[in-house]
Amino acid sequence: MHSHLLAGLDDGVQDIEEAVELVKQLQAAGYTKLVTTPHIISGLYHNHADTILPALDKLRARLEQEGIPMELEAAAEYMLDDYFEGLLADREPLLKISNKYLLTEFSFVSMPFNYREMFFDIKMAGYEPILAHPERFRYLHDNFDVYRELHETGVYLQVNLLSLKGHYGRSIQKVAVQLLEEKLVSFVGTDIHHQRHRMY
Ligand SMILES: [Fe+2]
Repeated sequence: MHSHLLAGLDDGVQDIEEAVELVKQLQAAGYTKLVTTPHIISGLYHNHADTILPALDKLRARLEQEGIPMELEAAAEYMLDDYFEGLLADREPLLKISNKYLLTEFSFVSMPFNYREMFFDIKMAGYEPILAHPERFRYLHDNFDVYRELHETGVYLQVNLLSLKGHYGRSIQKVAVQLLEEKLVSFVGTDIHHQRHRMY
């Protein structure tokens, strides 16, 4: 439910061949459905339905051509920044996972000062928010109550499988495990961007 498999839209796969290769590997590992979620970040990745959906169609067509049986869906990973606040205020239709969930992320530097209000507005707009890889936000490591608060207020937490494997280092791995132990995790994802993110 979290991956970067559409070529040229963000820091994920570089071309469609790389995407096909990764999908083949995921299929061999047992996955039957993937949700790909290009970044939408102000000033960096200007994606929207018009860039994401045609790329999805292209990859689907290519998988079919190659006879790779994989259900593919696309949504987006929304950075909670000014641009996102504008989308929400303008009631722009956002790209949902399974017609329901909105995948969001915080910056790696700090969380939005108004995160409570943003999640409230997301819910009021009819989406169920998921926060991607909260274990990777080091500024929360000594502030575990924020994780508990998010979970209690209906923000689903999604841990990266790579975090559990130790890909981002020991402290992130430790927090990922603690989140699981406290039963605060609702989703796990590959967040796969490239070959170096293979886990198997
Ligand atoms: Fe991601």
